[in-house]
Amino acid sequence: MSRPKGPEGPAAWEAVEGAIRSRASIRAFLPDPVERATVERLLETAARAPSANNHQPWHVYAFAGETKAKVSEAILVARDSGEEGHEAEYVYAMKQWREPYKARRREVGWALYDLMGVVKGDYEGSRAAADRNYVFFDAPVGMILTIERDLSVGSWMDLGMFLQSLMVAARGMGLDTCPQEAFSPYHKILRPLLGIPEEEIVVCGLALGHADESAPANDLYTRREPLETFATLRDL
Ligand SMILES: Cc1cc2nc3c(=O)[nH]c(=O)nc-3n(C[C@H](O)[C@H](O)[C@H](O)COP(=O)(O)O)c2cc1C
Repeated sequence: MSRPKGPEGPAAWEAVEGAIRSRASIRAFLPDPVERATVERLLETAARAPSANNHQPWHVYAFAGETKAKVSEAILVARDSGEEGHEAEYVYAMKQWREPYKARRREVGWALYDLMGVVKGDYEGSRAAADRNYVFFDAPVGMILTIERDLSVGSWMDLGMFLQSLMVAARGMGLDTCPQEAFSPYHKILRPLLGIPEEEIVVCGLALGHADESAPANDLYTRREPLETFATLRDL
């Protein structure tokens, strides 16, 4: 196989940077459908992500319509009834929050709640906001990403690269996404509905569709720390 030519000329940087910088977690979508051919093209493109020894450790379950409705309904019913026994099979974020992560988490959480009109102490409002995850924020396409449980931490890194490639590729098609760790506790519900084998851990979900630009939640464009706080440059 020979390597395809990449974008060239002055428009190349603009296109690539624009796709990366315009990616944001979108939490309200229009009902406009996304065609199967588009989903296939995005997934094939994302699978160009690198991985150790070319393992390609990602598994993706992509669905729309009836399957998506079944997934949403089953999880929301479990949540409404307070059903127990739904726990993620991996720890995504730290259990004991410490700085600077505590402050960053608080900042994004409150910014989002402000836009969604959820005030401090409004448990129903915050619960309803969390529930929006399980309808994929009304996106027409939902995905669940999994990884085989005997693979090591490097493969999880590879899966992350696949995920980011997928989200950036979606921008190239004028589409938007939201990665969703919120699905990881519900693997027992997802397995029979999507045919996910026991050897795979549910890592996250992904909403894919056309952003509803009029939705307040989508006004959030999160801040980043300045370069010197995370990069050390020498002899450059
Ligand atoms: C793997 C992963 C899982 C995430 N899970 C959720 C989620 O379940 N629900 C949600 O609303 N946002 C989720 N997010 C979005 C983050 O909150 C978001 O990436 C972060 O605040 C930075 O904002 P940005 O994506 O708009 O740049 C997730 C992000 C990643 C990378």
